[in-house]
Amino acid sequence: MKDNLKVAVPFADLYAQYLTLKPDMDAAVAGVIQSSAFIRGPYVQKFESEFAAINGVPHCVSCANGTDSLYIAMRALGVQPGDEVIAPAHSWISTTETITQAGGKVVFCDTDADTFTIDTQQVETKITPRTVGIIPVHLFGQPADMDAIMAIAAKHKLWVIEDCAQAHLATYRGRRVGTFGTAASFSFYPGKKLGAMGDAGAIVTADANLAERMGMLARHGGLSKGDHQIEGINSRLDGLQAAVLSVKLPHLVAWTARRQQLAADYAKGLSGIAGIRLPIVAPDRTHVYHLYVIRHEQRDSLAHHLRGLGIQTVINYPVALPFLPAYSRFAHRSEEFPNAHTNQSRILSLPIFPEMTADQMSAVADAVRSFAAPANISA
Ligand SMILES: Cc1ncc(COP(=O)(O)O)c(C=O)c1O
Repeated sequence: MKDNLKVAVPFADLYAQYLTLKPDMDAAVAGVIQSSAFIRGPYVQKFESEFAAINGVPHCVSCANGTDSLYIAMRALGVQPGDEVIAPAHSWISTTETITQAGGKVVFCDTDADTFTIDTQQVETKITPRTVGIIPVHLFGQPADMDAIMAIAAKHKLWVIEDCAQAHLATYRGRRVGTFGTAASFSFYPGKKLGAMGDAGAIVTADANLAERMGMLARHGGLSKGDHQIEGINSRLDGLQAAVLSVKLPHLVAWTARRQQLAADYAKGLSGIAGIRLPIVAPDRTHVYHLYVIRHEQRDSLAHHLRGLGIQTVINYPVALPFLPAYSRFAHRSEEFPNAHTNQSRILSLPIFPEMTADQMSAVADAVRSFAAPANISA
């Protein structure tokens, strides 16, 4: 608590968001408790259909978290031992640990230097006769280059799972992410753009058979109790989380617009500061700013400076996936993934959340500017 008192600008403020919805949130939670609809039931079904509708897809299969959503999708797509799946070198480890868990082999591809999404020029060079699929990640909230990815997938008959954990409602050429791939995974981790009050996740797809298989896998291999067609796992969305998510979902469009406004404010507030590189949005894509990621050559000193002024920052992610001890078996070298390797030591995520005030925004911008003052640059 003591530390919190010193924080001028937190990285996110989930309690502030709760306060904006308190009466509805409290009523929803009380409703679940009164009806004891803790597992499956009406709250889960309601959220599944609402989430499918907002994304413009016919099927939504909820599950326990975003990591499981990737695993379930790959199991349902029939990944076999030795199957290769191409994924970006810079992401959260869920994107790739689930490939291994599903029985496949992770094949890393470098990221684009500026959008941080998978480098589509390189994807094709990674394809072998064992390749079965590609997992583009719409990292930080900006869509990957889906036209290029879907063209490569069609040419080589590969499936595509879009990892939308950070990109709810982002669009590519006017179309929502999650509607391009064979399936798309979402996380509702509390700090995500649509966050539960605990772990939660979902997979969306236009393929009815795939949806049925994913639903079975998430529920011990059967859609009704005692009817186990296959072996599955236990990965269910709680009724309480579903009720919370249904209260929040109608606000997602406005929260997204607010994040975009804050990003525009940052662009103004941080303009002209030497050494700072602002996020770059590729043409025809909307960035929904789950994270506002700037770059600076002295990233660690900048983060330290901001911390001293009570501004919380995060590094998403300080070590790109191929260089983590978890993947030492591949013995990857930095030259294989130059963009991911360079970016990992430059990126810094600044606070951004819909409830962020104008004062908080200028406090961050001023603090960044004060770092770039001549005294610090020569230091
Ligand atoms: C890109 C990405 N994929 C997958 C996940 C996994 O989501 P969860 O934390 O809900 O398991 C996350 C969450 O941090 C993520 O950022």
